[in-house]
Amino acid sequence: WGADGHYIVCQIAQEQLNDAAADIVNELLPDYAKNNLSSLCSWADRVKFIYTWSSELHYIDVPDDSCSYNYSRDCKDSSGVQGRCASGAITNYTTQLLEYRNSSDNRQYNLTQALLFLAHIMGDIHQPLHVGHTSDRGGNTIDVHWYTKNTVLHHVWDSSIIDTAEADFYSSDVTGYIEALNQNITGNWANQTSKWRSCSGNMIACPNIYASESISAACEWAYKDVTNGSVLGDKYFNSRLPVVDLRLAQAGVRLAEILNRIFG
Ligand code: ADE
Ligand code: ZN
Ligand code: ZN
Repeated sequence: WGADGHYIVCQIAQEQLNDAAADIVNELLPDYAKNNLSSLCSWADRVKFIYTWSSELHYIDVPDDSCSYNYSRDCKDSSGVQGRCASGAITNYTTQLLEYRNSSDNRQYNLTQALLFLAHIMGDIHQPLHVGHTSDRGGNTIDVHWYTKNTVLHHVWDSSIIDTAEADFYSSDVTGYIEALNQNITGNWANQTSKWRSCSGNMIACPNIYASESISAACEWAYKDVTNGSVLGDKYFNSRLPVVDLRLAQAGVRLAEILNRIFG
């Protein structure tokens, strides 16, 4: 996602933290974050260029002929190192944060980064094209027109659909969009949210489920009826916005649940 998508995910999560998790999140955040995770939710994108090792943790590439996700086949970086992908990163940072309970000594600095990576990558793994096909790099090499503007399919899903929704329905105010999503979470989606939160066994996070859902939405919605040069307008926007709404809400609810489980 772009900055707004990440902000939305973290803001939804922040509001659902239990008291224990909210306290520890506050403790881990720097003072300038003003006790709110959402202000630093895009930090991981800003450090991609300094921490070059981290850039491959934002996504997963699956083979072009597949619409499903397989951890051992797909979760590796370009040099083939197993676990270096978005779902592996979620498992890794969740494990690191659990250490907060075991030893709250001098690991403060690393745990702040672990929290910021976890919050960001939980957003990205829910963006359908962040679990996309290898040869088009998750839609990054598919040129499209968003209404009249030249862009790539990946950017349409990271930002354009969200920007257009904000402009059309919420007078370009991200807060209005967040309120609408929160209303759906407690309204239309209320009977689904416990399923979103649940993880088999007593696992803290289920990143393989989030990744599987994304590649299936990528095939069913993002790539569907799009080729190089496609013009995407109202028809695409109206049919895909509900998918973006759902993925942002699921990411926020699940991020809160994971932090509540770790710290609660
Ligand atoms: N780079 C390569 N594949 C990508 C993807 N699926 N999403 C974002 N960046 C990528
Ligand atoms: Zn992206
Ligand atoms: Zn990212």
